[in-house]
Amino acid sequence: MVRSRRVADNRQRPLPFADPGGAAAPAAAGVLFHGDSLALARAWPAASLDLVYVDPPFGTGSVQRGRRGAYADRGDDPEAHVAWLGPWLEASRAALAATGSLFVHLDWRAVHHVKVHLDHLFGRRCFAGEVVWCYAVGGKSRRGFGRKHDTILWYGRTPGWAFYPDQVRVPRRGGSHMRVVRDADGRAVQEKTDRRTGRVYRYPVAAGKVPEDWWADIETLNHSDVERTGWPSQKPERLLARIVDAVTVPGGAVADWFGGSGTTAAVARRSGRRWVTADAAAEAIAIMRARLAGVEPHTRVDDAVAAFRARP
Ligand SMILES: C[S@@+](CC[C@H](N)C(=O)[O-])C[C@H]1O[C@@H](n2cnc3c(N)ncnc32)[C@H](O)[C@@H]1O
Repeated sequence: MVRSRRVADNRQRPLPFADPGGAAAPAAAGVLFHGDSLALARAWPAASLDLVYVDPPFGTGSVQRGRRGAYADRGDDPEAHVAWLGPWLEASRAALAATGSLFVHLDWRAVHHVKVHLDHLFGRRCFAGEVVWCYAVGGKSRRGFGRKHDTILWYGRTPGWAFYPDQVRVPRRGGSHMRVVRDADGRAVQEKTDRRTGRVYRYPVAAGKVPEDWWADIETLNHSDVERTGWPSQKPERLLARIVDAVTVPGGAVADWFGGSGTTAAVARRSGRRWVTADAAAEAIAIMRARLAGVEPHTRVDDAVAAFRARP
């Protein structure tokens, strides 16, 4: 029997409505920092960023290895992990503009601990939501359901966080409970009738829809993916493009204090957002330089901040 697997394939799926990387936008300038990014985050100008995305070491207690490098994933004590990560989260909050957002990418080991910390730090009114990023590639467990999702926590700097739904629309799915009919102009619309009120709801197919908070249409990178740089735990550009497009516009400013292979910066650069990223590992910096058009890394915090201020 041939089993069909409904696995999203980044190479074959159509691009979301908002082209990740916004083809029309000119490449934006940015700042690359080599070193411990906590000092950089703490020194970052207040209220200057529209988005901070972080994909920190998850606290697995192991070493993450890739073809072109490795990094230690910290100890597996969740409280120690939160205590370690907390200062970056506090610095990020200070660096965000009033309409800015923090996205923290975690997995099942740490997410609940970090969420409690963020509720205290930002206040629950600033909790904008959590994205469950679903994928299927990789090993399976024989002792339970495969752990095939990460959780990305989203907090606004204030309850007035920016959100641009029209930049992240995705195609409407066929085969849902709604039937597809033609409207008076001949356009395909999905239609449903509220049984209680009799009210008819119509959604033009061509307009797409704003995604739910679970994303199953972006697969994690597999070994032969063209995007693959060889850095462990590299995230797909489509994932970052959706986040960048959801909360920023071209000309905005994006930070990633745990840059790794530079996914966030590559997406921000291509889509006309100013960017700052960093990594402590020399191999990661080499990969990012190649990916970010040869940009020279700063090793002094003051120089990195000055470079950002010089390009408003
Ligand atoms: C999960 S990886 C990030 C992967 C990245 N999102 C990507 O798409 O390639 C975490 C990164 O944090 C870096 N890192 C860990 N501690 C750091 C620190 N104190 N300062 C800067 N970078 C650090 C590691 O070297 C590693 O590259």
